[in-house]
Amino acid sequence: MGENISEDVKNIKALKEAIRLGMTHIDTAESYAAGHAEELVGKAIKSFNRKRLFITTKVKPEHLRFDQVLKAAKASLKRLDTDYIDLYLIHWPNPDIFLEETMRAFDFLVDEDLVKYIGVSNFSVKLLEEAQSYSKNKIIANQVEYNLLSREPEKELLSFCQKKKIMLTAYQPLARGKLAKPGFVLLDELAKKYGKTQAQIALNWLISKSNVVIIPKSSNIEHLRENLGAIGWKMEKKDIERLDTYGFKRKN
Ligand SMILES: NC(=O)c1ccc[n+]([C@@H]2O[C@H](COP(=O)([O-])OP(=O)(O)OC[C@H]3O[C@@H](n4cnc5c(N)ncnc54)[C@H](OP(=O)(O)O)[C@@H]3O)[C@@H](O)[C@H]2O)c1
Repeated sequence: MGENISEDVKNIKALKEAIRLGMTHIDTAESYAAGHAEELVGKAIKSFNRKRLFITTKVKPEHLRFDQVLKAAKASLKRLDTDYIDLYLIHWPNPDIFLEETMRAFDFLVDEDLVKYIGVSNFSVKLLEEAQSYSKNKIIANQVEYNLLSREPEKELLSFCQKKKIMLTAYQPLARGKLAKPGFVLLDELAKKYGKTQAQIALNWLISKSNVVIIPKSSNIEHLRENLGAIGWKMEKKDIERLDTYGFKRKN
């Protein structure tokens, strides 16, 4: 599993610090570090009240047959060292497997109290609607790439999620760190205006939209603190609109 003790210690420390700082939504997947990421989450959450945390994990597209889903969920629970998953997602669609079979397995996991809520990731509106038609449980989230540089969800998914009261979970909200640096003129200007950092402006813009939640990743405690500073305040409407329509190109 490619375990690296000092990296593990650093990651567990960052996770624990994030929880202490008040971040309660932890996003992981069976495929991250071949299961090792879930093991680290399991270790990090041990000393906290489980009920106050919200843990999302995902089943990979190679495991979407009924029995495979059950087996994958149980293996995730074991690695996470917990009794239930708050939100279980189909990580990516797989056109070779009937969605109906996967959704039946998801419903079964909810019936068994192993999963509280179900969702999907990287699904189009069409696939999301199809998945919902096969499940008696509401699909509460679609996790997709969304940030100032990647606007695909704005074509139709975002308004669909807002209308249907589905959470749009924005992954790579900092475009893998690109938005956390100076160099985009408007981000630099707004950072100065609001006395915030570029990362805080980029994250605040995402959460200014209804139904959007963010899952920035950081194993650096200073960055965690900084990212938390993205919440609890609002930009003026006109600045949000400028970010909505601004063509994001770097200065240099
Ligand atoms: N569903 C999917 O298919 C899917 C795909 C990709 C990702 N995801 C999820 O989304 C999460 C986030 O995505 P991501 O990690 O790819 O991208 P991200 O959150 O946009 O960016 C993470 C990068 O930004 C850096 N960073 C974070 N905060 C910073 C700050 N304040 N200042 C400077 N640098 C900062 C991090 O480095 P440091 O650690 O050094 O701070 C890291 O290199 C993942 O952890 C994963 O859970 C889901």
